[in-house]
Amino acid sequence: MTATRIDGKAFAARLRERVGEAALSFAQKAGRKPGLAVVLVGEDPASQVYVRNKGKATLAANMESFEHRLPADTSEADLLALVETLNADPAVDGILVQLPLPSHLDEQSVIASISPDKDVDGFHVINAGRLSVGQSGFVPCTPLGCMMLLTDQLGDLSGLEAVVIGRSNIVGKPMAQLLLDANATVTIAHSRTRDLKSVVSRADVVVAAVGRPEMIGKDWLKPGATVIDVGINRLPPEPGAGKGRLVGDVAFGEASEVAGAITPVPGGVGPMTIAVLLRNTAIAAHRNEGLDPPEGL
Ligand code: GUN
Repeated sequence: MTATRIDGKAFAARLRERVGEAALSFAQKAGRKPGLAVVLVGEDPASQVYVRNKGKATLAANMESFEHRLPADTSEADLLALVETLNADPAVDGILVQLPLPSHLDEQSVIASISPDKDVDGFHVINAGRLSVGQSGFVPCTPLGCMMLLTDQLGDLSGLEAVVIGRSNIVGKPMAQLLLDANATVTIAHSRTRDLKSVVSRADVVVAAVGRPEMIGKDWLKPGATVIDVGINRLPPEPGAGKGRLVGDVAFGEASEVAGAITPVPGGVGPMTIAVLLRNTAIAAHRNEGLDPPEGL
């Protein structure tokens, strides 16, 4: 048996299309486009690529993109002052401060300074709290994207055994909350979990967000399991080759022999993150103008 390949790239493209339409209809009602501000501090090469891609995707979705690039030695006071300006700017619906920040800046203080109603990353404690008690707020983009792929693939998740590997605030914890909301039986496993393999092997749904290349092999999986691979790891380059291959936390080839459905890396979860960010921004814009967001976003 070969698993169904869950095409996150195609799903994300369809979501971006719907978001683009929602942004157009918003602009007709509000007389302005939805706006997303992205703040990048320093010159981390991966972050520069992400920020450039977010800017392009924002424009392609009929939204306004405001990019703020600050030097690596920016003081916390200056960064907080910029966030305050963006909080007060009516053209800005969503604010994203690209992480990681340089080490002299306190990420929690910076996130806390973002207005919860513009926190399209869903990182503010108010939004984490809303998710935890089942109120509507902003949900972090990567786990929400995983959830969209899961419900598209499986429909009702009620009663399924779900194992989330990883307990970060950005992926693992919100992922577990979303699965719990969907009535799955949820286990959060992590680096200190005893006999991780046997925990994973009872799961109907596995979400892997550990950052260890191809850690999860076929002998870890229950036959027919649905596997969502959040990991993006670069292997060392082959001799003579430029860059190493990108792989997930799951050994895709062999896992495909056992799983029922599985996301590839690349082309699985990755493209969902930006699509959901744009979706969250479109929803923020509607809420900020007192409009109902369209159905199906
Ligand atoms: N760095 C890597 N991924 C993300 C993300 O989703 N949001 C922010 N703010 N920073 C990131």
